[in-house]
Amino acid sequence: MSLSDKRILLIISGGIAAYKSLDLIRRLKERGAGVRVIMTKAAQHFVTPLSAGAIAGERAYTDLFDATTEFDIGHIRLARETDLVVIAPATADLMAKMAGGHADDLASTVLLATDKPILIAPAMNPQMWGHRATKRNLAQLLADGVATVGPNAGEMAEADEAGIGRMAEPIEIAAAIESLLAGRNAAPKALAGQHILVTSGPTHEAIDPVRYIANRSSGKQGHAIARAAAAAGATVTLVSGPVKLPDPPGIKVIHVESARAMLAAVEAGLPADAAIFAAAVADWRVAEMAAQKTKKTAAGPPTLAFVENPDILATVAKRKAQRPGLVIGFAAETERVIENARAKLVKKGCDWIVANDVSRETGVMGGDRNTVHLVTAQGVEAWPSQSKEEVARALVARIAETLKAPAALLR
Ligand code: CTP
Repeated sequence: MSLSDKRILLIISGGIAAYKSLDLIRRLKERGAGVRVIMTKAAQHFVTPLSAGAIAGERAYTDLFDATTEFDIGHIRLARETDLVVIAPATADLMAKMAGGHADDLASTVLLATDKPILIAPAMNPQMWGHRATKRNLAQLLADGVATVGPNAGEMAEADEAGIGRMAEPIEIAAAIESLLAGRNAAPKALAGQHILVTSGPTHEAIDPVRYIANRSSGKQGHAIARAAAAAGATVTLVSGPVKLPDPPGIKVIHVESARAMLAAVEAGLPADAAIFAAAVADWRVAEMAAQKTKKTAAGPPTLAFVENPDILATVAKRKAQRPGLVIGFAAETERVIENARAKLVKKGCDWIVANDVSRETGVMGGDRNTVHLVTAQGVEAWPSQSKEEVARALVARIAETLKAPAALLR
């Protein structure tokens, strides 16, 4: 991907990670972006406007009441003449100001005045990151539609301090910027003529005619992918477990209850150019469903014996005939996200795994936002925290790009 013709407004706030922002500017310029820089007062204790401006190829802006700036361009134009606003590093203080809508310096004023998407790369001490106030502010920013990348775990600048709080690496921030902008600019008919199969929602495994076991799943992400694929011109088959969502218009929806019914519907839906398995399939079902409602008896509660359900993703990924060109699984992980996702990629034989980071307090489960990593045989990409719609659009853009590539490059 490239960022040619894209304009990025980079706000550098005051943290030790500010030195990495100079590298970020260089990487964005390498990708063809035009970069304009705003620095807070605190940022200037760590790097100088001269060095940031020299790398950006344009003076760095620092002062709201700077007469030259205001005559020259003005803070409103700074806020608007861009495709994306990126804050790296984003300090706890600047996040608090944003969450509260303050506007007492150039950076916070521009953030309040902009109508463009905003991506933040937080960086702070782990205690500050974990503080209730920061969590509150982050939740507010996410609810306001701000996307995030990082922070990562690791050693801090302070001796003997480690934990979550390191700013994401410039290369991760650049990738997050690319995927955010790609998601917004996906070519509308990029999937014309392609058949895309999507699974979504949970499965219900009956215990008896009135009881079942299930996984928690709203179906929001899977349905969003189906909608995004249809919007990109694909013919879409959506195999959905029981969800409260309406059937997306213009899409063939097959409603199923159990994992076995989902597998049968998926296999009946082949051939497909790409298949995305976003359903939270129940791993087990009861060995024998009772024909009648199980009654309470003096013998106490029944013991349920389970058998394993078919793995729909693995079954399709390992097919010899009619294997879709691109088979994509999801992985909801709470720890060792990348390691587990990589293992799943190999075990299931799929091409990509979209790993959901459900460990952070982003409210991914049932919520409207998602923080994912895209794990492929080529490597791992950290995508910014964004709405499930944006994740869906970015994924669809990537699928379209990959399906266009020569067959040899597909996997
Ligand atoms: N999946 C599937 N059929 C199953 C189980 C899972 O198609 N019976 C798919 C999901 O739709 C998802 C991926 O496999 O795309 C990962 O599912 P997950 O439940 O996270 O992985 P598991 O293999 O069950 O591993 P674990 O529960 O041990 O993490």
